[in-house]
Amino acid sequence: MREGTVTLIRREDYVAPIFWIRTVDLTFDLDPAKTLVTSKMQLERNAAVPHGPLRLHGEELNLLRVLINGESVSFRQEGHELIIDNVPDADFVLEIRNTCCPDKNTALSGLYTSGGGFFTQCEAEGFRRITYFLDRPDVMAVYTVTLRADKSRFPVLLSNGNLLDTADLDNGRHMAKWHDPFPKPSYLFALVAGDLVAREQRIRTRAGKDHLLQVYVRRGDLEKTEHAMNSLIASVVWDEARFNLPLDLERFMVVGVSDFNMGAMENKGLNIFNTSALLASPATATDADFQRIESIVAHEYFHNWTGNRVTCRDWFQLSLKEGLTVFRDQEFSMDMAATPSARAVCRIQDVRALRSMQFPEDAGAMAHPVRPDVYAEINNFYTPTVYEKGSEVVRMYQTLVGREGFGKGMALYFERHDGQAVTCDDFAQAIADANPGSELSKRLDTFKRWYSQAGTPRLQARGQYDAAARTYTLSLQQVNPPSPGQPDKLPQVIPVALGLLSRDGAALPLQLDGEAQAAGTDRVLVLDSAEQSFVFVNVDSAPVPSLLRGFSAPVVLDDGLGDEELLVLLKHDSDAFNRWEASQRLALSRLLTSVRNGQPLRLDDAYLDAMRAVLRHPDLDPAFKALALQLPDEAYIAEQLTVVDPQAIHAAVTQAQEQLAAALQADWAWAFETHQVSGGYQPDPVQSGKRALTNLALSMLVLHATRSGDGVWPGRAYQRFKDATNMTDRMGALSALVQAHAALAEPALERFHAQFKGEALVIDKWFALQGRATELDGKTFARVKQLAKHSDFTLKNPNRARSLIFSLCMFNPAAFHRTDAAGYVFWAEQVLALDAINPQVAGRLARVMDRWTTLATPYRSAAREAIARVAAKAELSNDVREIIDRQLA
Ligand code: ARG
Ligand code: ZN
Repeated sequence: MREGTVTLIRREDYVAPIFWIRTVDLTFDLDPAKTLVTSKMQLERNAAVPHGPLRLHGEELNLLRVLINGESVSFRQEGHELIIDNVPDADFVLEIRNTCCPDKNTALSGLYTSGGGFFTQCEAEGFRRITYFLDRPDVMAVYTVTLRADKSRFPVLLSNGNLLDTADLDNGRHMAKWHDPFPKPSYLFALVAGDLVAREQRIRTRAGKDHLLQVYVRRGDLEKTEHAMNSLIASVVWDEARFNLPLDLERFMVVGVSDFNMGAMENKGLNIFNTSALLASPATATDADFQRIESIVAHEYFHNWTGNRVTCRDWFQLSLKEGLTVFRDQEFSMDMAATPSARAVCRIQDVRALRSMQFPEDAGAMAHPVRPDVYAEINNFYTPTVYEKGSEVVRMYQTLVGREGFGKGMALYFERHDGQAVTCDDFAQAIADANPGSELSKRLDTFKRWYSQAGTPRLQARGQYDAAARTYTLSLQQVNPPSPGQPDKLPQVIPVALGLLSRDGAALPLQLDGEAQAAGTDRVLVLDSAEQSFVFVNVDSAPVPSLLRGFSAPVVLDDGLGDEELLVLLKHDSDAFNRWEASQRLALSRLLTSVRNGQPLRLDDAYLDAMRAVLRHPDLDPAFKALALQLPDEAYIAEQLTVVDPQAIHAAVTQAQEQLAAALQADWAWAFETHQVSGGYQPDPVQSGKRALTNLALSMLVLHATRSGDGVWPGRAYQRFKDATNMTDRMGALSALVQAHAALAEPALERFHAQFKGEALVIDKWFALQGRATELDGKTFARVKQLAKHSDFTLKNPNRARSLIFSLCMFNPAAFHRTDAAGYVFWAEQVLALDAINPQVAGRLARVMDRWTTLATPYRSAAREAIARVAAKAELSNDVREIIDRQLA
């Protein structure tokens, strides 16, 4: 790899710290312009490593004094380090005083102000922007924190743990003192100060302990916290029931903040949330928002054990906590979904996201293993690979050892490592050791290649039926394509959940050659070499294989099935995931044929009839129908092609949509009329499934009507938009008008803006909808450029920046990839503008160009030019520089 100007940090270079920090006593004199921080630390030599100078991290700080055991000492400052050469051999107390400027902190890392309050974000390396410290996750200390601030402006003062003391001070100031009994790494430190109010709930857990749960928000947002509180309570109950993991704090606080780089943060006992991941009311949030909030609240809560009680030794191990915690939140959402069909809908949505976000990453410039080997800027590695692929890896453990075995493995993991900072190897070992003789333990080293090898494995499967012998031979083969820095790869362990169906859809008993009897109709084969064959016996007729059920491994499957077999699966598969997958593959093959041949798409009757049958099916869940009838997204289609013409893909998708709208017009109208929700709004799977289907139907009806010059459905959509009693239906109708470029879209957008101008999160939706609108003669792109100058627009607020700029560059390929390169020029400008304000968010936007090398002419050369323009800028953040370097490597 070309290294550019960034310094690379390597996993193999890990060394334990020379000192431990056992306790830290922090005092904050909070002032937005200049906050004074006093830190008193108890240090202890680490006898296991050779002695050397003490090197503390510190960035953007103003150092006032350094004392050791109360005496001043000499020190040096080099780059982002404070170095003290002469430190005592025995334990000592180090006292540091410094200031920082929260008001000027637009990077939103460290201590910053937002909406008149103080907030912190310390993961991964933000604590060093608050004070000098050994800011690394393997240094765990017990924190005592004193906050002092103006009482009228900042009546609420919060930090981790338990409140020890409060008092009024002179000059209208007051103080609060907090103590967190659990040793923690600095990335889990948090403080909040501001004029906030809390929804409170007392709960008693199974273990009989009482706890206080609080959700703090700005005045006026209190009624939007009910769903978050309910989600929190459900999370506490679930973690105790499923994994025996209780809440270990008397008080558990959640705080919302409008300026936040990510979704949320699991600081011990004081989770801080982006308001977009916390606040919801039926009038302002959609079903998807309610679902996302439930899963993020759960995710952060689950980190209390997987991340906080057991943390990461170093940042290369990030997936140890993130992959595992995503797995846990996905399992939680499935368990909350209750019905088998609603569970399948969760799984389908997770896999859809994985394939359209993580698969491209794994095939592009930033491809990295779940446990990366090298980085320049750790903030660039909070990725779909570390999170979502990491979760799939954890899911495969569970598949290999069973649900109960996985529970035992988790118990052993906590028994061994509670209170420690550990590695992915430690986790793997615990799961394996708790399950001796399991399919995992037999091949643990091979399995662990999932952590070290980047790239998505290709799995090829071919079946051969021998009528005379009544056998079915399934040959599996895996290919692991090269990725940057990893030209050659070894075979991985791929659990293949499968079933065999007769042509008329019956589930066939599965008996492998050598087995005395069939083991049910659903089982898991384990592929752990390049090629392996499995012979099924007593097979009465040529079966249709249903492979990789529930998406049992994060691979690309080529099973060679044709339409006829896919239609059998679509109709009969007992595995809802593969049933959905069949619907997608029927669409995908048609879209790809059209794109590859450069010919207009013509949807055939076989496909249209199959889709009509899904839509009209008497038993299928509306939520499932909506997913099956939705076409694969453009990013996923692009991944199937070696040379990508985004306009050709978009044209094919548009044609498919129009034909699906036209051919099924009467069916869409039927679906719309018969799935209306009655009764009060509930964000549950039943109601939200109906709304998903009616909104999809409405978008099809409006699209068809607009294309054929008929005003009835656009009129109905406008009426529905006006009269809607919840945001899901309001957005559904508005989106139908906008996506179809109906004439009524304009007045509807205006009305929407006027109606919600006080609601920042809704205005984000307003920008996002326009940023994602289908391109039509360059109008969408022109509109986005216009909106970037709107008085409500600002790059300083990450949600707002994402709502417009990311919507266009990341989620609207046809508007972004233009033959005149204007999209790329816009991207380069926005990356540079953002980088000066907030490198983390800029780094994320830079990622848009990860896959530029696969673009067709003229996009490819124009994209390269735009990347080079960014690269040419002398002062780039590490975040953006690393990504640009990799793109040009
Ligand atoms: N640990 C947080 C979560 O996944 C994410 C924080 C990431 N922060 C960052 N600066 N990259 O819940
Ligand atoms: Zn997380």
